[in-house]
Amino acid sequence: MNLRSVTNYSIANNTVTKLARLVQEDYPKFAKWICYNACIIKRMTNDNNKMNAESENSPLIESWDTYWQGALTSGAYTGGGSSHPLVLGFWDDYFRQVDDRESKPKIIDIASGNGAVVESASNAFTGSLPEFTCLDVSDSAIRMLEKRYPGVHGMVADAANIPLDSASYNIATSQFGVEYAGLDALGEVTRLVAPGGELALLVHHRDGIIFEECGESLEAVQEMESAEFIPKCIAMFEAGFAAMQGGDGERYRTAGKAFAPAIKAMEAIMMKHGRDVAAGTVLKVYRDVRTIHSRMRHYEPSAIQDWLLNLQQEIEAYAGRMASMRDAAIDVAQFTQVCADLIEKDFEILRAEPLTGSEQDQPIAWALIAKKK
Ligand SMILES: C[S@@+](CC[C@H](N)C(=O)[O-])C[C@H]1O[C@@H](n2cnc3c(N)ncnc32)[C@H](O)[C@@H]1O
Repeated sequence: MNLRSVTNYSIANNTVTKLARLVQEDYPKFAKWICYNACIIKRMTNDNNKMNAESENSPLIESWDTYWQGALTSGAYTGGGSSHPLVLGFWDDYFRQVDDRESKPKIIDIASGNGAVVESASNAFTGSLPEFTCLDVSDSAIRMLEKRYPGVHGMVADAANIPLDSASYNIATSQFGVEYAGLDALGEVTRLVAPGGELALLVHHRDGIIFEECGESLEAVQEMESAEFIPKCIAMFEAGFAAMQGGDGERYRTAGKAFAPAIKAMEAIMMKHGRDVAAGTVLKVYRDVRTIHSRMRHYEPSAIQDWLLNLQQEIEAYAGRMASMRDAAIDVAQFTQVCADLIEKDFEILRAEPLTGSEQDQPIAWALIAKKK
């Protein structure tokens, strides 16, 4: 039986028990639980795990949304992406130069997340922040952004299909964003730029640091999945809690033996990829499971099972995001094509190069600034 079917079986099993308990005890909690599980069932029945921006609730879009809900505690993309000094420096130089020449530009930031580009702009502009619209497919990201920057207009939309008038902005920006909607979305973004306006982008680089780190993280969580760490852990705890209540001790010993190689696999993953791999997820799960195991009687069996099932979904979603970041990254040939397409659309290329500290360094991104004639 593979990992997904073990997990799905456990989810279904867990579902029936919880359903009975919640209906009896707590109706509002039951209603919330129904909504939550409807999402899980939808995810389980959707075998196309790849990004499909046209289907509003694709697993990947849900996964970004879930990420932004917990954005301050978990890692979306490693390597300090948006807070890397080169990235901050790029925006600082760009916005200061805009500030020097334009009084009130209208700016739109595409795939804004919770406002990394707005944050850079607010540090660079000397007066008040210019008029900003931020667009992202994640509702949670936009809600967070509007809380951080009440003056900014937030918009939940797909970058490949933006419901705004052509030529309505002086500047369109995007930091590790528009490429998630596919390179054709760039055409949609250029449509928004007014004549004389500019496009300023940082795009994932296929030979870049972020691309490599995402690959390493993806590999680590895939190794964790093939070791069947979570399903074996669920089986071990289930047998352990049953044994504590006078059940079959032999079943617990067998589950423990089956779990031991999965623990070894986690250690091997950390030795191979480093303890911080996958934003520290492997280490955290490894430590938490060991702690719970050593103090099992202090825990509620259903709480541990729920925690592990949620964890399983989070790890799958994380793997999906890592894979999508790698898919979104572009190579030299694609970047050259992007520049050629811009020229075709009447843009003048002002800057187009890998963003690096020095020529020998691996790039963090592609930097692109272009002006519409
Ligand atoms: C790597 S994050 C970057 C966020 C932000 N620009 C930053 O640098 O912090 C990618 C963002 O793209 C958004 N996204 C993914 N697909 C999208 C799409 N089709 N349309 C609009 N936004 C999208 C995600 O919700 C996420 O916020």
